[in-house]
Amino acid sequence: MIGLPLQIGPIRLRTNLLLAPIAGYCDLAFRTICREQGGLGMACTDLLSPQGLLRGTATSLDLAKTDATDKPVCMQLYGSDPEIMAEGARWAVEHGATVIDINMGCPVDKVTKKDGGSKLLTDLPRAARIAERVARELEKTPLDRDEWARRIGDAQLIAPGSAPIPVPLTCKMRLCWHDADYAAGNACSPGLARMLADAGVAAVTVHGRTTEMKFSGEVIHDGIARVVETIGGRIPIVGNGDVREPADALRMIERTGCQGVMIGRGALSTPWIFRDCWSLQTTGAVEEAPGIPRIIEIIRRYFELMRVQRDDRYALFQINRRVSWFAKRLTGTDAAGKPIGVKPFKEAVRSARSAGDVHFALDRFAAGGLRGGFFELQESATT
Ligand SMILES: Cc1cc2nc3c(=O)[nH]c(=O)nc-3n(C[C@H](O)[C@H](O)[C@H](O)COP(=O)(O)O)c2cc1C
Repeated sequence: MIGLPLQIGPIRLRTNLLLAPIAGYCDLAFRTICREQGGLGMACTDLLSPQGLLRGTATSLDLAKTDATDKPVCMQLYGSDPEIMAEGARWAVEHGATVIDINMGCPVDKVTKKDGGSKLLTDLPRAARIAERVARELEKTPLDRDEWARRIGDAQLIAPGSAPIPVPLTCKMRLCWHDADYAAGNACSPGLARMLADAGVAAVTVHGRTTEMKFSGEVIHDGIARVVETIGGRIPIVGNGDVREPADALRMIERTGCQGVMIGRGALSTPWIFRDCWSLQTTGAVEEAPGIPRIIEIIRRYFELMRVQRDDRYALFQINRRVSWFAKRLTGTDAAGKPIGVKPFKEAVRSARSAGDVHFALDRFAAGGLRGGFFELQESATT
């Protein structure tokens, strides 16, 4: 619904916009900078291995890291064993999750070979068993009101009385595994969404692609619309795929009838996309895009958060692989009216060997340097 906050179980989010899990990208620092730009209803962690969380491996604990400002936060689990998924869900509840999500959409071999992710689309009874088992575990571990106050963020808890309330469960899926099934009108997603609603799932996100499509082609709005129709308002459906501009989010809602929109890659280049999508829905207009100085400050903030939350080495690794995403919005024209070239800036960030080098590159670009072609690059390398 356009401009209506999304409700997931007892949680009414401030908007209907969610940050998608993107393995390797949606860490605490990135979630924080997206929240700071406004408009974001809830952010999701990247997919988490319940075994890793339960064993306490450093990588899993880093991925699950959250803090008091990172709320409401959804923690996403993947796997195929109902018992282990339930134990993982309990761990996530004990470590700050506002919502638990089960990954039923990941097409990556590492996950599907172990029957997790979108492999569950080929075994609906198992998918439903996992959801049922996790939902039951969440019912057994409800949170009291004081704890809810700590993990609700700017959302609202809509539940009368004073009894403890369980953390809600969501699932994220694709349309189905095979293209041919979708083409023949046999996508499993509408039926699976119904089974999940029966199992106690509070909302379902549908990425409008098949597993075989991976990330190619265009999102299929009709496939998401079928799920919305089948569910008939019993639980909210969140549409996902290819939202890169505010108008894309509006189109997703209009074409599918979904109650929420999840954005992944669009946020990597445009962390303020949630603010814009929400203002387009609620006011019919989009605020002016941040200028280069503001975008540089957002990149700097991300980099500094990474340094504090992890360390300089990791912050350098992350800024190196993300600078191209961030640079997509570093557009404009120079004094002569020529488009700004960002290659020297990207090269300078990528070749940075210390935090000081990154700040130097950010400062230079903000001041009008590191733009254009080879000549600028040479100049910066010798300064
Ligand atoms: C590099 C990458 C990693 C992803 N990791 C996850 C993940 O951990 N869990 C998940 O449910 N989806 C994952 N996705 C899928 C996204 O959440 C999302 O469904 C997909 O990118 C489509 O949305 P978008 O067009 O807004 O990016 C990933 C996608 C990409 C490109």
